[in-house]
Amino acid sequence: MPSRIMLSPADIATLDLTDPRTHAEYDLSEVWRHLRRTQPFYWHPSVGGAPGFWVVSRHADVSEIYRDDKRFTSEKGNVLTTLLMGGDSAAGMMAAVTDGPRHADIRKILLKAFSPRALEGVVDHIRQSTRELLRDAVAREECDFARDVAADIPLTAICDLMGVPEADRAKVLELTATALGNDGAAQSPVAAWQARNDILAYFGTLAEERRRNPGDDAVSVLATGLIEGRPLTMDEIVVNCYSLIIGGDETSRMSMTGGVLALVEHPAQWRALKSGEADIATAVDEILRWTTPALHFGRTAMEDVPVGGQGQVIRAGDVVTLWSDSANMDEEVFDAPERFLLGRTPNKHLSFGYGPHFCLGAYLGRAEIAAMLTGLRELVASVELRGDTRRNYSNLLSGITSLPVTLRPE
Ligand code: HEM
Repeated sequence: MPSRIMLSPADIATLDLTDPRTHAEYDLSEVWRHLRRTQPFYWHPSVGGAPGFWVVSRHADVSEIYRDDKRFTSEKGNVLTTLLMGGDSAAGMMAAVTDGPRHADIRKILLKAFSPRALEGVVDHIRQSTRELLRDAVAREECDFARDVAADIPLTAICDLMGVPEADRAKVLELTATALGNDGAAQSPVAAWQARNDILAYFGTLAEERRRNPGDDAVSVLATGLIEGRPLTMDEIVVNCYSLIIGGDETSRMSMTGGVLALVEHPAQWRALKSGEADIATAVDEILRWTTPALHFGRTAMEDVPVGGQGQVIRAGDVVTLWSDSANMDEEVFDAPERFLLGRTPNKHLSFGYGPHFCLGAYLGRAEIAAMLTGLRELVASVELRGDTRRNYSNLLSGITSLPVTLRPE
Protein backbone atom coordinates (compact mmCIF):
# COMPACT_ATOMS: atom_id res chain seq x y z
CA MET A 1 0.00 0.00 0.00
CA PRO A 2 1.16 3.59 -0.51
CA SER A 3 2.85 5.24 2.45
CA ARG A 4 0.57 6.87 4.98
CA ILE A 5 -0.62 10.44 4.49
CA MET A 6 0.85 12.91 6.99
CA LEU A 7 -1.99 14.41 9.02
CA SER A 8 -1.45 18.08 9.80
CA PRO A 9 -2.04 19.56 13.27
CA ALA A 10 -4.53 21.86 11.51
CA ASP A 11 -6.72 18.77 11.08
CA ILE A 12 -6.93 17.95 14.80
CA ALA A 13 -10.56 19.07 14.93
CA THR A 14 -11.45 16.22 12.55
CA LEU A 15 -9.16 13.63 14.18
CA ASP A 16 -11.03 10.43 15.07
CA LEU A 17 -8.74 8.15 17.07
CA THR A 18 -11.47 5.52 17.38
CA ASP A 19 -11.47 4.94 13.61
CA PRO A 20 -9.09 2.16 12.49
CA ARG A 21 -8.51 4.03 9.21
CA THR A 22 -6.95 6.94 11.10
CA HIS A 23 -4.08 4.70 12.17
CA ALA A 24 -3.76 2.56 9.03
CA GLU A 25 -3.95 5.36 6.45
CA TYR A 26 -2.49 8.41 8.21
CA ASP A 27 0.84 9.26 9.76
CA LEU A 28 0.00 10.99 13.04
CA SER A 29 3.54 11.99 14.04
CA GLU A 30 3.01 15.74 13.42
CA VAL A 31 -0.29 15.64 15.27
CA TRP A 32 1.27 13.87 18.23
CA ARG A 33 4.18 16.33 18.35
CA HIS A 34 1.69 19.20 18.38
CA LEU A 35 -0.47 17.63 21.09
CA ARG A 36 2.55 16.82 23.29
CA ARG A 37 3.63 20.45 23.05
CA THR A 38 0.31 22.25 23.28
CA GLN A 39 -2.43 19.96 24.63
CA PRO A 40 -0.84 17.03 26.49
CA PHE A 41 -4.29 16.29 27.89
CA TYR A 42 -6.56 16.61 24.88
CA TRP A 43 -10.31 16.06 25.13
CA HIS A 44 -11.36 13.89 22.18
CA PRO A 45 -14.93 14.70 21.20
CA SER A 46 -17.65 12.09 21.29
CA VAL A 47 -17.96 9.86 18.22
CA GLY A 48 -21.24 8.22 17.25
CA GLY A 49 -22.91 8.81 20.60
CA ALA A 50 -20.11 7.19 22.65
CA PRO A 51 -18.57 9.32 25.42
CA GLY A 52 -15.68 11.66 24.64
CA PHE A 53 -12.34 10.77 26.22
CA TRP A 54 -8.98 12.16 27.29
CA VAL A 55 -5.98 11.61 25.03
CA VAL A 56 -2.68 11.59 26.92
CA SER A 57 0.39 11.92 24.71
CA ARG A 58 3.47 12.73 26.85
CA HIS A 59 5.74 9.98 28.14
CA ALA A 60 5.76 11.39 31.71
CA ASP A 61 1.96 11.62 31.91
CA VAL A 62 1.36 8.23 30.29
CA SER A 63 3.79 6.56 32.75
CA GLU A 64 2.26 8.36 35.72
CA ILE A 65 -1.28 7.20 34.89
CA TYR A 66 -0.12 3.64 34.11
CA ARG A 67 1.46 3.58 37.58
CA ASP A 68 -1.58 4.91 39.44
CA ASP A 69 -4.10 2.07 39.56
CA LYS A 70 -5.85 3.63 42.56
CA ARG A 71 -7.03 6.77 40.79
CA PHE A 72 -7.11 5.21 37.30
CA THR A 73 -8.76 1.80 37.16
CA SER A 74 -8.62 -0.92 34.49
CA GLU A 75 -11.78 -2.56 35.83
CA LYS A 76 -14.07 -0.70 33.43
CA GLY A 77 -12.03 -1.86 30.44
CA ASN A 78 -8.48 -1.10 29.29
CA VAL A 79 -8.92 -0.50 25.54
CA LEU A 80 -11.05 2.08 23.72
CA THR A 81 -13.65 -0.40 22.49
CA THR A 82 -14.59 -1.70 25.94
CA LEU A 83 -14.02 1.63 27.72
CA LEU A 84 -16.46 3.40 25.42
CA MET A 85 -18.99 0.61 25.80
CA GLY A 86 -18.82 1.13 29.56
CA GLY A 87 -17.11 -2.07 30.66
CA ASP A 88 -15.42 -5.41 30.05
CA SER A 89 -17.22 -8.66 30.86
CA ALA A 90 -13.96 -10.15 32.20
CA ALA A 91 -13.47 -7.32 34.74
CA GLY A 92 -12.48 -8.58 38.16
CA MET A 93 -11.43 -11.93 36.66
CA MET A 94 -8.83 -11.35 33.92
CA ALA A 95 -5.56 -9.85 35.19
CA ALA A 96 -5.49 -7.03 32.63
CA VAL A 97 -8.92 -5.74 33.73
CA THR A 98 -8.66 -6.36 37.48
CA ASP A 99 -7.06 -4.05 40.05
CA GLY A 100 -6.04 -4.03 43.68
CA PRO A 101 -5.30 -7.12 45.79
CA ARG A 102 -7.25 -9.47 43.47
CA HIS A 103 -5.08 -8.37 40.54
CA ALA A 104 -1.90 -8.81 42.59
CA ASP A 105 -3.00 -12.35 43.55
CA ILE A 106 -3.91 -13.44 40.00
CA ARG A 107 -0.70 -11.91 38.68
CA LYS A 108 1.33 -13.77 41.30
CA ILE A 109 -0.20 -17.04 40.17
CA LEU A 110 0.41 -16.27 36.48
CA LEU A 111 4.00 -15.23 37.20
CA LYS A 112 4.81 -18.84 38.14
CA ALA A 113 4.28 -19.78 34.50
CA PHE A 114 6.63 -16.97 33.45
CA SER A 115 9.54 -17.92 35.72
CA PRO A 116 12.89 -18.31 33.95
CA ARG A 117 12.76 -22.07 34.64
CA ALA A 118 9.28 -22.47 33.16
CA LEU A 119 10.25 -20.37 30.15
CA GLU A 120 13.56 -22.06 29.38
CA GLY A 121 12.05 -24.73 27.13
CA VAL A 122 9.63 -22.26 25.52
CA VAL A 123 12.47 -19.93 24.57
CA ASP A 124 14.65 -22.79 23.24
CA HIS A 125 11.75 -23.82 21.02
CA ILE A 126 11.24 -20.21 19.83
CA ARG A 127 14.91 -20.05 18.75
CA GLN A 128 14.76 -23.37 16.98
CA SER A 129 11.44 -22.81 15.19
CA THR A 130 12.35 -19.26 14.14
CA ARG A 131 15.57 -20.55 12.65
CA GLU A 132 13.74 -23.29 10.75
CA LEU A 133 11.10 -20.90 9.40
CA LEU A 134 13.80 -18.46 8.28
CA ARG A 135 15.87 -21.21 6.70
CA ASP A 136 12.83 -22.39 4.70
CA ALA A 137 12.02 -18.84 3.64
CA VAL A 138 15.61 -18.21 2.55
CA ALA A 139 15.61 -21.45 0.57
CA ARG A 140 12.52 -20.23 -1.34
CA GLU A 141 14.04 -16.70 -1.48
CA GLU A 142 10.60 -15.11 -1.80
CA CYS A 143 8.11 -15.01 1.05
CA ASP A 144 5.52 -12.94 2.84
CA PHE A 145 7.43 -12.39 6.07
CA ALA A 146 4.25 -11.69 8.04
CA ARG A 147 2.52 -14.87 6.95
CA ASP A 148 5.38 -17.30 6.34
CA VAL A 149 7.76 -16.45 9.19
CA ALA A 150 6.21 -14.26 11.89
CA ALA A 151 2.72 -15.79 11.95
CA ASP A 152 3.35 -19.06 13.75
CA ILE A 153 6.10 -18.09 16.21
CA PRO A 154 4.03 -16.33 18.91
CA LEU A 155 1.16 -18.81 18.92
CA THR A 156 3.51 -21.77 19.07
CA ALA A 157 5.26 -20.10 22.00
CA ILE A 158 1.91 -19.51 23.76
CA CYS A 159 0.86 -23.14 23.17
CA ASP A 160 4.21 -24.21 24.69
CA LEU A 161 3.67 -21.87 27.63
CA MET A 162 0.23 -23.34 28.25
CA GLY A 163 1.30 -26.92 27.65
CA VAL A 164 -1.23 -27.46 24.84
CA PRO A 165 -0.71 -31.08 23.70
CA GLU A 166 0.76 -31.55 20.20
CA ALA A 167 -2.37 -33.31 18.99
CA ASP A 168 -4.56 -30.26 19.77
CA ARG A 169 -2.25 -27.60 18.37
CA ALA A 170 -3.64 -27.37 14.85
CA LYS A 171 -7.16 -26.99 16.22
CA VAL A 172 -6.15 -24.34 18.76
CA LEU A 173 -4.17 -22.39 16.16
CA GLU A 174 -7.08 -22.47 13.73
CA LEU A 175 -9.65 -21.40 16.35
CA THR A 176 -7.38 -18.59 17.50
CA ALA A 177 -6.89 -17.33 13.96
CA THR A 178 -10.67 -17.26 13.48
CA ALA A 179 -11.35 -15.67 16.88
CA LEU A 180 -8.80 -12.92 16.32
CA GLY A 181 -9.56 -12.47 12.63
CA ASN A 182 -5.97 -13.38 11.68
CA ASP A 183 -6.74 -15.73 8.88
CA GLY A 184 -7.08 -12.99 6.31
CA ALA A 185 -10.40 -14.22 4.94
CA ALA A 186 -13.38 -11.96 5.36
CA GLN A 187 -15.20 -13.75 8.13
CA SER A 188 -18.40 -13.26 10.02
CA PRO A 189 -18.43 -11.90 13.56
CA VAL A 190 -20.50 -14.97 14.45
CA ALA A 191 -17.66 -17.29 13.38
CA ALA A 192 -15.22 -15.25 15.49
CA TRP A 193 -17.58 -15.36 18.49
CA GLN A 194 -18.09 -19.10 18.08
CA ALA A 195 -14.33 -19.69 17.84
CA ARG A 196 -13.73 -17.64 20.99
CA ASN A 197 -16.31 -19.73 22.86
CA ASP A 198 -14.74 -22.93 21.54
CA ILE A 199 -11.32 -21.79 22.81
CA LEU A 200 -12.75 -20.98 26.25
CA ALA A 201 -14.44 -24.40 26.35
CA TYR A 202 -11.22 -26.09 25.23
CA PHE A 203 -9.22 -24.44 28.03
CA GLY A 204 -11.95 -25.33 30.51
CA THR A 205 -11.52 -29.01 29.69
CA LEU A 206 -7.73 -28.74 29.71
CA ALA A 207 -7.84 -27.00 33.11
CA GLU A 208 -9.97 -29.83 34.58
CA GLU A 209 -7.34 -32.31 33.39
CA ARG A 210 -4.46 -30.23 34.77
CA ARG A 211 -6.18 -29.95 38.16
CA ARG A 212 -5.90 -33.72 38.38
CA ASN A 213 -2.50 -33.96 36.76
CA PRO A 214 -0.60 -30.65 36.97
CA GLY A 215 2.65 -29.64 35.28
CA ASP A 216 4.40 -26.26 35.41
CA ASP A 217 2.60 -24.76 32.39
CA ALA A 218 0.30 -21.71 32.60
CA VAL A 219 -2.94 -23.75 32.51
CA SER A 220 -1.70 -25.89 35.43
CA VAL A 221 -0.65 -22.91 37.56
CA LEU A 222 -4.06 -21.29 37.01
CA ALA A 223 -5.93 -24.56 37.61
CA THR A 224 -4.10 -25.30 40.86
CA GLY A 225 -3.48 -21.75 42.13
CA LEU A 226 -5.11 -20.68 45.39
CA ILE A 227 -6.13 -17.22 46.56
CA GLU A 228 -6.73 -17.10 50.32
CA GLY A 229 -6.97 -20.88 50.25
CA ARG A 230 -9.60 -20.99 47.50
CA PRO A 231 -9.05 -22.10 43.90
CA LEU A 232 -9.85 -19.77 41.01
CA THR A 233 -13.27 -20.26 39.43
CA MET A 234 -13.38 -21.95 36.03
CA ASP A 235 -14.40 -18.58 34.50
CA GLU A 236 -11.34 -16.93 36.01
CA ILE A 237 -9.10 -19.70 34.72
CA VAL A 238 -10.36 -19.66 31.15
CA VAL A 239 -10.44 -15.87 30.72
CA ASN A 240 -6.83 -15.68 31.90
CA CYS A 241 -5.86 -18.46 29.47
CA TYR A 242 -7.55 -16.50 26.72
CA SER A 243 -5.76 -13.32 27.76
CA LEU A 244 -2.40 -14.96 27.11
CA ILE A 245 -3.47 -15.61 23.54
CA ILE A 246 -4.86 -12.16 22.88
CA GLY A 247 -1.99 -10.50 24.72
CA GLY A 248 0.82 -12.36 23.09
CA ASP A 249 -0.06 -13.21 19.52
CA GLU A 250 -0.63 -10.20 17.30
CA THR A 251 1.56 -7.86 19.36
CA SER A 252 4.62 -10.07 18.86
CA ARG A 253 3.85 -10.72 15.19
CA MET A 254 3.48 -7.00 14.50
CA SER A 255 6.78 -6.19 16.20
CA MET A 256 8.68 -8.88 14.30
CA THR A 257 7.26 -7.94 10.91
CA GLY A 258 7.54 -4.20 11.57
CA GLY A 259 11.12 -4.76 12.69
CA VAL A 260 12.04 -6.34 9.36
CA LEU A 261 10.41 -3.48 7.44
CA ALA A 262 12.35 -0.97 9.56
CA LEU A 263 15.59 -2.79 8.73
CA VAL A 264 14.76 -2.72 5.01
CA GLU A 265 14.08 1.01 5.22
CA HIS A 266 17.26 1.75 7.21
CA PRO A 267 20.16 0.03 5.41
CA ALA A 268 22.81 1.38 7.80
CA GLN A 269 20.99 -0.33 10.69
CA TRP A 270 20.78 -3.56 8.69
CA ARG A 271 24.55 -3.38 8.23
CA ALA A 272 25.00 -2.75 11.97
CA LEU A 273 22.96 -5.87 12.69
CA LYS A 274 24.90 -7.95 10.17
CA SER A 275 28.35 -6.80 11.27
CA GLY A 276 27.66 -7.56 14.91
CA GLU A 277 28.05 -3.89 15.80
CA ALA A 278 24.44 -3.88 17.06
CA ASP A 279 23.82 -5.73 20.30
CA ILE A 280 20.74 -7.95 19.89
CA ALA A 281 19.13 -7.14 23.26
CA THR A 282 19.48 -3.39 22.65
CA ALA A 283 18.20 -3.74 19.10
CA VAL A 284 15.12 -5.63 20.32
CA ASP A 285 14.07 -2.67 22.46
CA GLU A 286 14.51 -0.23 19.59
CA ILE A 287 12.28 -2.43 17.45
CA LEU A 288 9.70 -2.43 20.22
CA ARG A 289 9.86 1.37 20.49
CA TRP A 290 9.79 1.87 16.72
CA THR A 291 6.91 -0.49 16.03
CA THR A 292 4.84 0.17 19.20
CA PRO A 293 2.46 -2.72 18.44
CA ALA A 294 -0.17 -1.61 20.99
CA LEU A 295 -1.08 1.98 20.11
CA HIS A 296 -2.94 2.73 23.30
CA PHE A 297 -4.31 1.34 26.52
CA GLY A 298 -6.78 3.13 28.73
CA ARG A 299 -8.22 3.63 32.17
CA THR A 300 -11.24 5.18 33.90
CA ALA A 301 -10.71 7.92 36.49
CA MET A 302 -11.94 6.99 39.99
CA GLU A 303 -11.86 10.57 41.32
CA ASP A 304 -11.39 14.10 40.05
CA VAL A 305 -7.72 14.62 39.12
CA PRO A 306 -6.32 18.05 38.21
CA VAL A 307 -3.83 17.72 35.33
CA GLY A 308 -1.49 19.59 33.07
CA GLY A 309 -1.23 22.87 35.00
CA GLN A 310 -3.77 24.54 32.70
CA GLY A 311 -6.67 24.27 35.12
CA GLN A 312 -7.87 21.06 33.49
CA VAL A 313 -9.53 18.42 35.62
CA ILE A 314 -10.10 14.79 34.69
CA ARG A 315 -13.48 14.06 36.25
CA ALA A 316 -14.35 10.86 38.12
CA GLY A 317 -15.75 8.43 35.53
CA ASP A 318 -13.88 9.97 32.55
CA VAL A 319 -12.19 7.63 30.11
CA VAL A 320 -8.45 8.32 29.83
CA THR A 321 -6.47 6.88 26.91
CA LEU A 322 -2.67 6.55 26.99
CA TRP A 323 -0.99 6.69 23.57
CA SER A 324 2.28 4.82 23.53
CA ASP A 325 2.97 5.61 19.88
CA SER A 326 3.21 9.25 20.95
CA ALA A 327 4.99 8.62 24.27
CA ASN A 328 7.60 6.47 22.49
CA MET A 329 8.43 9.44 20.26
CA ASP A 330 8.55 12.02 23.05
CA GLU A 331 11.54 14.29 22.46
CA GLU A 332 11.69 15.02 26.21
CA VAL A 333 12.75 11.41 26.79
CA PHE A 334 14.36 10.18 23.55
CA ASP A 335 17.20 11.89 21.67
CA ALA A 336 16.26 12.18 18.00
CA PRO A 337 13.18 9.98 18.50
CA GLU A 338 12.41 10.01 14.75
CA ARG A 339 15.62 8.04 14.08
CA PHE A 340 15.59 4.23 14.13
CA LEU A 341 18.83 3.35 15.94
CA LEU A 342 19.49 -0.25 16.96
CA GLY A 343 22.11 0.92 19.45
CA ARG A 344 19.77 3.31 21.30
CA THR A 345 20.38 3.36 25.08
CA PRO A 346 18.75 4.24 27.34
CA ASN A 347 15.46 3.26 25.76
CA LYS A 348 12.60 3.72 28.20
CA HIS A 349 9.88 2.87 25.71
CA LEU A 350 6.37 2.13 26.96
CA SER A 351 5.55 -0.62 24.46
CA PHE A 352 4.99 -3.10 27.31
CA GLY A 353 3.12 -0.56 29.46
CA TYR A 354 4.33 0.38 32.91
CA GLY A 355 3.50 -0.16 36.56
CA PRO A 356 1.19 -2.79 38.04
CA HIS A 357 -0.08 -4.07 34.68
CA PHE A 358 3.36 -4.15 33.00
CA CYS A 359 3.25 -6.86 30.35
CA LEU A 360 3.66 -10.36 31.79
CA GLY A 361 4.90 -11.62 28.44
CA ALA A 362 7.66 -9.01 28.00
CA TYR A 363 10.44 -11.57 28.36
CA LEU A 364 8.77 -13.86 25.84
CA GLY A 365 8.04 -11.05 23.39
CA ARG A 366 11.65 -9.91 23.58
CA ALA A 367 12.88 -13.50 23.10
CA GLU A 368 10.84 -13.81 19.90
CA ILE A 369 12.24 -10.61 18.39
CA ALA A 370 15.76 -11.59 19.51
CA ALA A 371 15.41 -14.99 17.83
CA MET A 372 14.32 -13.30 14.62
CA LEU A 373 17.24 -10.85 14.67
CA THR A 374 19.74 -13.61 15.40
CA GLY A 375 18.32 -15.70 12.55
CA LEU A 376 18.47 -12.74 10.14
CA ARG A 377 22.04 -12.01 11.16
CA GLU A 378 23.19 -15.58 10.64
CA LEU A 379 21.13 -16.81 7.69
CA VAL A 380 20.17 -13.82 5.55
CA ALA A 381 22.57 -11.74 3.43
CA SER A 382 19.99 -9.16 2.38
CA VAL A 383 16.27 -8.39 2.52
CA GLU A 384 14.48 -6.60 -0.32
CA LEU A 385 10.89 -5.51 -0.53
CA ARG A 386 9.21 -7.04 -3.57
CA GLY A 387 5.69 -5.68 -3.39
CA ASP A 388 3.24 -3.56 -1.47
CA THR A 389 2.94 -3.95 2.28
CA ARG A 390 -0.42 -4.04 4.03
CA ARG A 391 -1.18 -2.47 7.40
CA ASN A 392 -3.50 -3.66 10.13
CA TYR A 393 -6.80 -1.80 10.49
CA SER A 394 -7.33 -1.27 14.21
CA ASN A 395 -7.31 1.51 16.79
CA LEU A 396 -5.38 -0.78 19.13
CA LEU A 397 -2.90 -2.92 17.23
CA SER A 398 -0.62 -1.22 14.77
CA GLY A 399 1.59 -2.95 12.28
CA ILE A 400 2.16 -4.74 9.04
CA THR A 401 0.02 -7.73 8.11
CA SER A 402 1.66 -8.45 4.75
CA LEU A 403 5.35 -7.94 3.94
CA PRO A 404 6.42 -9.51 0.62
CA VAL A 405 10.21 -9.77 0.61
CA THR A 406 13.11 -11.50 -1.08
CA LEU A 407 15.55 -13.00 1.42
CA ARG A 408 18.99 -13.70 -0.08
CA PRO A 409 20.94 -16.49 1.57
CA GLU A 410 24.15 -15.78 3.45
C1 HEM B 1 -0.10 -6.56 29.42
C2 HEM B 1 2.10 -5.17 25.29
C3 HEM B 1 3.53 -9.77 24.52
C4 HEM B 1 0.58 -11.20 28.07
C5 HEM B 1 0.43 -5.79 28.40
C6 HEM B 1 0.39 -4.34 28.36
C7 HEM B 1 1.00 -3.95 27.19
C8 HEM B 1 1.43 -5.15 26.50
C9 HEM B 1 1.20 -2.51 26.70
C10 HEM B 1 -0.21 -3.41 29.44
C11 HEM B 1 -1.73 -3.31 29.31
C12 HEM B 1 -2.34 -2.35 30.32
O1 HEM B 1 -1.62 -1.70 31.09
O2 HEM B 1 -3.58 -2.22 30.34
C13 HEM B 1 2.68 -6.32 24.72
C14 HEM B 1 3.55 -6.30 23.55
C15 HEM B 1 3.96 -7.60 23.34
C16 HEM B 1 3.34 -8.42 24.37
C17 HEM B 1 3.92 -5.06 22.74
C18 HEM B 1 4.87 -8.19 22.29
C19 HEM B 1 5.78 -7.54 21.62
C20 HEM B 1 2.87 -10.56 25.41
C21 HEM B 1 2.99 -12.00 25.51
C22 HEM B 1 2.12 -12.41 26.49
C23 HEM B 1 1.49 -11.22 27.03
C24 HEM B 1 3.91 -12.85 24.64
C25 HEM B 1 1.82 -13.79 27.01
C26 HEM B 1 2.08 -14.91 26.43
C27 HEM B 1 0.16 -10.07 28.75
C28 HEM B 1 -0.68 -10.10 29.94
C29 HEM B 1 -0.88 -8.76 30.33
C30 HEM B 1 -0.15 -7.94 29.37
C31 HEM B 1 -1.25 -11.35 30.61
C32 HEM B 1 -1.69 -8.25 31.52
C33 HEM B 1 -0.79 -8.07 32.73
C34 HEM B 1 -1.52 -7.49 33.92
O3 HEM B 1 -2.58 -6.88 33.76
O4 HEM B 1 -1.01 -7.64 35.04
N1 HEM B 1 1.08 -6.25 27.27
N2 HEM B 1 2.57 -7.59 25.17
N3 HEM B 1 1.97 -10.13 26.37
N4 HEM B 1 0.47 -8.76 28.44
FE1 HEM B 1 1.59 -8.17 26.87
